[in-house]
This record gives sequence, C-alpha cells and structure tokens, in this order.
Amino acid sequence: MSFNRSIKIAPSILSADFADFGREIAAIEAEGADWVHVDVMDGHFVPNLTFGPPLCKAIRKHIGTVMDVHLMIAPVDPYIDAFAEAGADIITAHHEAGPHIHRTLQAIRATGKKAGLALNPGTPAEAAAPLLDLCDLVCVMTVNPGFGGQKFIHSQIDKICSLRNMIGDRPIHIEIDGGITPETAPLVAAAGADVLVAGSAVFSGGSVTNKDVYGKNIRAIRAAAEGARN
Ligand code: DX5
Ligand code: ZN
Repeated sequence: MSFNRSIKIAPSILSADFADFGREIAAIEAEGADWVHVDVMDGHFVPNLTFGPPLCKAIRKHIGTVMDVHLMIAPVDPYIDAFAEAGADIITAHHEAGPHIHRTLQAIRATGKKAGLALNPGTPAEAAAPLLDLCDLVCVMTVNPGFGGQKFIHSQIDKICSLRNMIGDRPIHIEIDGGITPETAPLVAAAGADVLVAGSAVFSGGSVTNKDVYGKNIRAIRAAAEGARN
C-alpha cells in the first residue's frame, strides 16, 4: 500500500447481500472500488451487531484491493490480534471506545498493520492532535456510527478542514464515513478528504447480477469528488 492523496472510493459491505459477500466484493472491485470497507459492530459501543474476525478471514480471500476494517467495538484491544490475523490491511478504532486510544493505536501498529483513528461527530479534531504520529488514517464520522443509510451531518466539514491543516504533508489519509453521495462527496473532497466510504450510495439499485449499477454509482461519487478538487 503506497501512500497518495488521490480520491479513493471504499464501498461499505454493510449494504451488500450478507449471504453473498464473495460475489459482492468481486462485483464492486470489478466496477472500480479502490478499497473494501468492513464495518464491525458489537451491539455495545454501537446499537447494532455485524460480524467478527472469522467473517473477515473468510472474505479476505475475495479482496484483491485493500481490506479496511472499521472497528465499532469496545473494548478494542483484546481483538486487535484477531483482526490482524484475519487479514486486515488497515484497522481503525474509535477515540471514544475506551480510555486508552494511544495504547490501542500502538497495539495496531505493533501487528504491522496500518492504524486508523475514528472520530464520532461529537469529538473535536483537536482530539486527534496528540495521536497523529501513530495514525495512518483519520476517519471522520459524518453520521453517528451504527447504521447505514443515515443523513450526512454537515457540521463535520469544518472538522475535516481542521484535520487537513493539522496533518499537513504527513502521510495520513482522511477518510469520511457516513452519508456519502454524489451530492456530499464534493463537500468532503474540497475540505481535504481522500478516502470516501459509501454503503447505500454504491449498492442501491444494483446486485451481483446487475453490477453495472455499482460501477455507475462508484463513478458518480468519484467524479463529483474529483470535480471539487479542480
Ligand atoms: C456506519 C458505518 C458506515 C456505513 C456507511 O456506522 O461505519 O460505514 O455503512 O453507510 P452509508 O454510506 O449508507 O451512510
Ligand atoms: Zn464504517
């Protein structure tokens, strides 16, 4: 994984057919996905349950791009090794998930994986400042985590701008997660984001047997974001 700031589209498989992950992943990658975003929820840190390391390990062999694992779980530390062994390329933990996020990021780095720091909408950009040396990615949540298909929270745009300034030329991705559509993508790209997670806006209207729609959706988000950079 070499670093660059080009726009990357990371479809969230939270909006895919859970009974058909292998073919869903093949379809989005064939249609232009740059990364595959995997939302892990524990029914405790967030009010929803998804899947754990065995599922991640099972789908890993279907991913030819980057496996971007977003942990919405608390505690995090006891599970880091398991997600690393499952084949994650990037492991992102939430600032709000416990009192020791610095230790958590150190533990992720110690596995040899890239470390991501996620910030909920109520957490300020400044919370990331003492942690940036341990981050390969900062994920700005533009919805409250837990569910796909929620409405983009516009007040997060200023936070993206602040993070972009704080990061400067350090090789740290800014990822945006929640409510990304062709309408909101330009706002976050102009503010400095380079990785755009999108669940419903990629998968809606398509299927593994109608994957052209995934391609159309991915291209629409990418074009809107890249247009805002020019
Ligand atoms: C929300 C998840 C997101 C979600 C995005 O808790 O972290 O990745 O799937 O879904 P959309 O794009 O539908 O808002
Ligand atoms: Zn996510």
